Amino acid sequence: MKRSKITESLKHYILKVVALSFVALASFISTSFSEVRSSRDQSSGTTITQAAPTEKTVEQVFKNIKVLNDMPQSQLYPAMRFMAASLGTQCGFCHVIRNGLLDGPADDKPEKQTARSMIKMVLEINKTIARGDAEVSCYTCHRGRSSPQGFPTLPLPLPTPLPQTPAGAGSSGVADSSSRTSPNTRPNLPSADEILNKHLTAIGGKMTIDRINSLVTKGTSATRNGQSLAYETAQIAPDKGYEAFVTPSGTSERVLNGARGWLKNADGVQELLGQRLEDQKLSFPWMFTILRLKDQYSSMRVSGTDKIDDRDVYVVSAIRLDNKLEHLYFNVEDGLVRRRISYLRTMIGTIPQQTDFEDYRQVQGLKLPFTITVSFVDRGSPILIRKFTDIKLNTPLDESMFDKPSPTKKP
Ligand code: HEC
Ligand code: HEC
Repeated sequence: MKRSKITESLKHYILKVVALSFVALASFISTSFSEVRSSRDQSSGTTITQAAPTEKTVEQVFKNIKVLNDMPQSQLYPAMRFMAASLGTQCGFCHVIRNGLLDGPADDKPEKQTARSMIKMVLEINKTIARGDAEVSCYTCHRGRSSPQGFPTLPLPLPTPLPQTPAGAGSSGVADSSSRTSPNTRPNLPSADEILNKHLTAIGGKMTIDRINSLVTKGTSATRNGQSLAYETAQIAPDKGYEAFVTPSGTSERVLNGARGWLKNADGVQELLGQRLEDQKLSFPWMFTILRLKDQYSSMRVSGTDKIDDRDVYVVSAIRLDNKLEHLYFNVEDGLVRRRISYLRTMIGTIPQQTDFEDYRQVQGLKLPFTITVSFVDRGSPILIRKFTDIKLNTPLDESMFDKPSPTKKP
């Protein structure tokens, strides 16, 4: 029974991904929906409880898993997209496409077999390194090509002189290994607390923020090539969110309620688990980034400075409560948060997802970004741009919109 459901959902997924691979936004949305179709589990029929159901591993859900055993199922599609992006290819490079459908379990292609040995090699290398953050992934060698280059391209660039920056405050804080030293050795950098306090003041101050218990937005959600859908969200502090995309085939809804979340579209209602649930939070940046930054991290540390669009930013390395690493970028000039990169660690590599906050405007005493851009490791739909036309604070909301959607409810 389960098998056939999964096969169905896989076919469904593949149909959409293949047929709509040029309709990036639609494909992004249907991908997200269909991924979760295969994560449907027994608990989805029960009433809401606070604890999220635990997710299965890929070998419990998919048919022909030989090397990715123990990977949480919500990581399979991100990992596949990561492999495709690392090699600069599409799914069909390794997978058989039959009548426009991707046959996930089929092992016909030698590239899939090679990929299996590569995965094994990567697991082995990382076991050998087994040291701190050091990590080898598909991208380490492949860099967007199916055949990695094993030698330097000539002529070599001239060595660049070291920049004359004050001790330790150099270049990019991200890849900088000296960022592991304590912030005390960097007298010119403010502390993480100072940066967070400046951010808090810049967006309106703690008193204003504490008065906000709900937020409603209207706008559009678009891909870079200009396709655009009407988009609405409603949020209640601290952890309830609702969003709706109006697609040509109907309204798609996503709901977050504490530790649980759901998707609803024409195919029905599915529960969000694992990484899908985490990703959903990034759709509600007001609650999970902008307004309550400090509450989401167990530790934060300034790791350096960088530039985004020629403007100076401080880079803060932060560990989330769920132990995931993030980098946060704050404008030096006005203190506002400019970028957030979250890193998903999987057994084959670390997968980044980047959110950019721009076009800050005043809304009832708060300063909020009216353009939020999310970039994914996904060659089919690498970028999603949300532009808001209207943001309202403290609008009375019907809390039932944050319940598990019922399939019969009118959108
Ligand atoms: C570089 C090769 C490669 C690329 C590119 C690739 N895959 Fe895979 N895929 C694999 C391998 C290898 C496995 C089997 C993993 C294992 O045995 O543990 C797999 C397994 C799967 C499975 C599980 C099938 C099953 O039931 O066992 C699905 C679904 C899947 N891939 C979908 C995709 C999608 C969708 C894409 C494009 C976003 C993609 N793959 C891109 C190599 C690849
Ligand atoms: C240590 C370096 C290294 C790492 C890490 C690595 N590869 Fe490779 N990969 C290679 C080399 C070298 C080749 C051979 C390329 C050639 O034949 O020109 C190759 C070839 C391949 C091929 C065959 C390409 C073709 O044209 O047929 C696939 C598929 C592949 N790698 C997938 C992966 C995947 C998936 C990962 C991550 C799980 C990975 N590789 C990680 C070095 C690496």
